[in-house]
Amino acid sequence: MTNHFNDLVKTLNQLGRKHDLAKVFNDLLTMGICSFHRTNILSRLQEKDEANEALYMETIKPYEREDLDIFAAALGILQLNVLDDPYSDLLGEFFMQHITKGQNGQYFTPPHICELMAEMQCGNLEDEGNRILDPACGSARMLLSAAKINHRNYFFGADNSNSCAKMATLNFFLNGLNGEVAWMNSLTMEWYGGWKINSNGLGILPIEKEQSEIWTDAPPKKKTEQQLSLF
Ligand SMILES: C[S@@+](CC[C@H](N)C(=O)[O-])C[C@H]1O[C@@H](n2cnc3c(N)ncnc32)[C@H](O)[C@@H]1O
Repeated sequence: MTNHFNDLVKTLNQLGRKHDLAKVFNDLLTMGICSFHRTNILSRLQEKDEANEALYMETIKPYEREDLDIFAAALGILQLNVLDDPYSDLLGEFFMQHITKGQNGQYFTPPHICELMAEMQCGNLEDEGNRILDPACGSARMLLSAAKINHRNYFFGADNSNSCAKMATLNFFLNGLNGEVAWMNSLTMEWYGGWKINSNGLGILPIEKEQSEIWTDAPPKKKTEQQLSLF
């Protein structure tokens, strides 16, 4: 991950000289989600959607052409990282080290502890179709560790931070996890937004709370349910 992480830092810092880095990072997440919206997983062709295009155009408005090339390069680095080091969490690492620096308790669990917890909770789930939830998922690194053990389960993440929910969504998509991310308060069940990811052959699909398996808690039950974090 180190080379790709250093490349991501260098790349986003170019934009951070002209713009607020936290906004740049959040806009990168939005652009990534818009770029893979309703995208056929195999052909990578995208279904046209006016609301998604409007969001994308609004997001890129403050930037110049050369800035957009830098965003594209950053998205490319994220994709290369998945090829070289699948299930690693470049986004969460950047977020912790360069954006929040631990504010709001947003220190994520170190990767080897994620792997240990995933192994303890999910190591015995050798079959497929189990449902694994992290109700305070941050960038979804624990779910990535669970997917590393067995990819053929369903993964569910919720977080009340918009940036975290978007990092989790992109991490799901890029690493091929099938499931759902909810931007919601897991204690009060207040809902802000959500996405189904890699379901029905489509990339990232925004959902309403009535379509959310996490919010409605009325999924067609599939085998075992595991909760990953201690929340
Ligand atoms: C310490 S981080 C852990 C993230 C992840 N589970 C991990 O182990 O790396 C805690 C996360 O909980 C989220 N959080 C805090 N209160 C929450 C709530 N009421 N509902 C959903 N998420 C919450 C924060 O935004 C933060 O991302």
